[in-house]
Amino acid sequence: DWTPGNIVDDLVARVRQQVGEDKVLLGLSGGVDSSVVAALLHKAIGDQLTCVFVDNGLLRKNEADQVMATFARHMGVNVIRVDAEDRFLTALKGVDDPERKRKIIGNMFIEVFDEEAARLTDVDWLAQGTIYPDVIESAGSATGKAHVIKSHHNVGGLPEDMKLKLVEPLRELFKDEVRRIGLELGLPADMVYRHPFPGPGLGVRILGEVRKAYADLLREADAIFIEELRAHDLYDQVSQAFAVFLPVKSVGVTGDGRRYEYVIALRAVETIDFMTARWAHLPYEFLDHVSRRIINEIPGISRVAYDISGKPPATIEWE
Ligand code: XMP
Repeated sequence: DWTPGNIVDDLVARVRQQVGEDKVLLGLSGGVDSSVVAALLHKAIGDQLTCVFVDNGLLRKNEADQVMATFARHMGVNVIRVDAEDRFLTALKGVDDPERKRKIIGNMFIEVFDEEAARLTDVDWLAQGTIYPDVIESAGSATGKAHVIKSHHNVGGLPEDMKLKLVEPLRELFKDEVRRIGLELGLPADMVYRHPFPGPGLGVRILGEVRKAYADLLREADAIFIEELRAHDLYDQVSQAFAVFLPVKSVGVTGDGRRYEYVIALRAVETIDFMTARWAHLPYEFLDHVSRRIINEIPGISRVAYDISGKPPATIEWE
């Protein structure tokens, strides 16, 4: 019968049989699926697994450190952390179109990941966090390969010359099953129940051109919003919540006098399938508290707005 323990034992046995003594490479994003694959493969094959974690400079506050702490420090997983912030930001300079930004971020991820893979000469397998809904989705797509690099950032294709066999241990599982397995493998609940985070990260939450100064402000605002959602037991009641950086200036007054700084929009939605969504009717008192904290604690922000757009007609992300 289905218990997370039984499934883990079964998946571990299957992975061992599939890869034998071979070495396996995994792109670890910190998202649920790739995290569960990392924990599972570590249990199954230990040191035969090497993970590559690319810090693209568009991650949330402390995210890279948390991923390294969970996997490298606590679990003893081999993780290569690549600090590629400068490369991503340089490639994004002057670009404001959302789809171009997505493409640049996706291509740069492949370039960086491929360079790391090339350094690991004796790797035979590439692990992917493909889950059952991805398999169904890609079966309907033209190439059938849409899922291929899904475990890291939905960028839509592997380098042609990367001749690795695929190991996809979560292929038959639904998201809720993946979460239960993650808990069984000892991953922290807040990682396993984290809201989805888009592959292009803050790159599509900074409207228009991406700049490091904007990303730093956004990280601070987003961290306050998420921290308060958790503190008020609201995090698990919404499907996705985040802050968006608007590169327009607005006047404000504070104790220190007049301010002319940027605007943050807060977005929180409730949805089953992310195809349609309603804006979360968060308590006014809560929104008031978050707004005050953001403006008081972040000198570069003078105003906070709450997004009351449903999907449709608006999308969940602003870009
Ligand atoms: P939208 O904005 O289309 O978002 O209503 C629906 C869901 O998809 C996520 N999303 C993305 N995920 N790469 C991703 O991996 C992307 O480029 C991307 N764009 C949107 C979004 O966060 C939401 O969960």
